[in-house]
Amino acid sequence: MGVTVMVGAQWGDEGKGKIADVLSAECDLMARCNGGNNAGHTIVIDGVQHILHLVPSGIFRPGVRCCVGRGVIVDPFVLLDEIDYVKSTGADVSTLLIDYACHLILPIHKTLDAAQEALMGKSALGTTKRGIGPCYADKQYRLGVRLEDLLFDYDFAAKMEMCYVRHAPVLEAAGVSADFSVDLDAVLGVADRLRQFAGDVGAEVRSYITEGKRVFVEGAQGLLLDPDHGTYPYVTSSTIHPAVAASGIGIPGTKVDEVLGVVKAYQTRVGAGPMPTELDGDVADMIRDRGGEYGATTGRPRRVGWLDLPLLRYAVETAGINSIALTKLDVLAGMDELFVCDAYEMASETVGTFGQPFGRIWDAKPVLKEMEPFEGGWDGISTYDELPAAARLYIEFVEDAVGASVRYVSTGPGRDEIVTKKP
Ligand code: GDP
Ligand code: IMO
Ligand code: MG
Repeated sequence: MGVTVMVGAQWGDEGKGKIADVLSAECDLMARCNGGNNAGHTIVIDGVQHILHLVPSGIFRPGVRCCVGRGVIVDPFVLLDEIDYVKSTGADVSTLLIDYACHLILPIHKTLDAAQEALMGKSALGTTKRGIGPCYADKQYRLGVRLEDLLFDYDFAAKMEMCYVRHAPVLEAAGVSADFSVDLDAVLGVADRLRQFAGDVGAEVRSYITEGKRVFVEGAQGLLLDPDHGTYPYVTSSTIHPAVAASGIGIPGTKVDEVLGVVKAYQTRVGAGPMPTELDGDVADMIRDRGGEYGATTGRPRRVGWLDLPLLRYAVETAGINSIALTKLDVLAGMDELFVCDAYEMASETVGTFGQPFGRIWDAKPVLKEMEPFEGGWDGISTYDELPAAARLYIEFVEDAVGASVRYVSTGPGRDEIVTKKP
C-alpha cells in the first residue's frame, strides 16, 4: 500500500483540513510534513467546528496514528494548547507523535517576524506573524534548536542563547527586545509535557508502510506559496511541493504513489502578492461572505477571485497532481453570473499556462470565460449525479482544462458533505 500526499493547489485554505478529515476514515496514519502554526485547517463534525494548526486532521478519527514530521516547525506553547483543546473534545491524543528533529519556534522568532514586517512597511508580505520565516531561516543557518535538544539537553540553553545573541543587533535596530532568560525558563517549563508526545516519526511511518498500512500526508499551505514554485517573495518559508513531503516525514520519495490536489472552486489569498483574478466590490463581498473567507489562523479577510486556470494548470503539472478534491463549489451556487479565468493576456500574447519568469504575473490580464450558473440547495446530496447539471459541467470543464480528474467534490464544510466522482 502506497502513500498519498495531499497538497493545496492554490494559495492555501483550499479546504485541506476538511478533505483530510474525510479521508482519515480510510487511513491508518496521517502525518503533517511542512509548515507550522501558520496553517489553519478547519474540520466540521456534527456541526461543531474545530480549527487545527499543528495536530494532524486525523486526530478526531479513533485509531488513526497522527504524526508531525521533521519538516514541520513547532511552537511548543501553541502545540500544548492545541493538545489541551483536542483533549477537551474527548478525542484521544495518545495517538500523537512529534518528531524529535522538529525545530522549535521560539518567542524571538515571533518578535523577529513582526519586526521585519513592520520594517518592510508597504512592502510587507502579510505573514501570519507566527515566527515561521525566522525559524526556518535559523534552521538553514544552523542556529535553530530542535525538540531533541530540549528533551535530552543537548546543550539546549547554550544553543538557544546563541540564537538570541546572533539576533540581538537586528532586534536593537528595530527597537524591540527579547528576554533570553524569561524565554528559556518558559521553554524549559514545558519540556516535560512535550516529552510524552516525542519520538521518531520517520521510523514509525516506515514501519506502517512495511506493514502495508495506509499513510496519508497532510500538506499545509498551497503550491503557489512555495518558495521555489510560488509567487516569490510573497510565499511562505517551507517547501510545499509534494516531492519534499517524503523528506518532511522521513520516508523514501519512491513510496509516494498518489498526489491529491485540493482545489477551491474559486481563488483566495491571504496576505500580499499578485492575484490576477482578484475581485472587488459586491461580487467579492458575496463570495467572501458566503464562503466564510476569513483566515482560520489570523481572522484576516481573504482576498477572493475567479478560479485561475493558468495557475491551476501550472500547479497540477509542477506538483504532479494525479487527482483533485474540489471544494466550495456550493459557495458559487445561486450566483447570477459565474466566470473562470481560462487564459492570460500578457504582452499582446494570450497564454493558457503560466510559467517563468514569474514576475510577468503582475501584468497578467485574465481572459474570463462565462460559465453556466447553477442552483444550490445541496443538503443531503450523496452522489455526483445529484449535483445540478451545470455544476457538473463546471467540474468537467475544470478537469479537461487542467488534465487531472476530480475524484471528490466537497459540497459543504461538514464531514458528510462530499460526493465521489467516478473516473
Ligand atoms: P485549509 O487550510 O485548506 O484546511 O482550509 P481552511 O480550513 O483554512 O479554510 C477552508 C474553509 O472552508 C473552512 O472554513 C472550511 O470549513 C470550509 N470548507 C471546506 N470545504 C468546504 C466546502 O466544500 N463548502 C463550504 N461551503 N465550505 C467548505
Ligand atoms: P493553510 O495550511 C493561507 C501565507 C500568509 C502570508 C504568507 C507568508 O491553512 O492553507 P508566513 O506566516 O507563512 O510567513 O506567511 O503565507 N500563508 C497562508 N495562507 N493558508 C495557509 O495555510 C498559509 N500559511 C501561510 O498569509 O501571505
Ligand atoms: Mg487554512
